Amino acid sequence: MTQPANTYKVLFVCLGNICRSPAAEAIFTDYAHKHQLKVTVDSAGTSNWHEGEKADQRMRTHARSRGYDITSLSRPFLPASDFDRFDLIVPMDDQNYYDLRALARTQDEVDKIMKVSELIKSTSYTYIPDPYYGGASGFDLVIDLLEDVAENLCEHIAAIKHTLGK
Ligand code: 4NP
Repeated sequence: MTQPANTYKVLFVCLGNICRSPAAEAIFTDYAHKHQLKVTVDSAGTSNWHEGEKADQRMRTHARSRGYDITSLSRPFLPASDFDRFDLIVPMDDQNYYDLRALARTQDEVDKIMKVSELIKSTSYTYIPDPYYGGASGFDLVIDLLEDVAENLCEHIAAIKHTLGK
């Protein structure tokens, strides 16, 4: 019997959707491809402050120097459709996490939100620090942490598929 397409859908969320979550989208897409995982990846902001804008130039430049191409445009998180569309929603920090939880209407929706701390294993950071008001090192730190997140998320998804026998 032919297996149905089993694309796993992941949404990364931060405040502005111009620094951390678009970087997470680009980095995780790259890692998932290398792990040969079929995924759909997107990102969004808890605010609409930068809707329609490209990612922050500093974030794009740092990402490019590390081999990642950030192409997405900022959009706000849409509770009415995003909780349905995605299997897993990963906020970048605790404020994003609580903002999303407040928008969830059912326990199923709450259960789709995973704290990013569960995916950071190589350092003691429990969130992705906002680089927006800081210097260059903050953007490099975001990429370091998101590479760890991407690797661990690939393992998490591969384990789910194994459990489901897919
Ligand atoms: P992000 O960073 O949440 O990682 O996209 C920020 C971007 C913009 C602002 C704050 C954080 N802002 O205040 O406009």
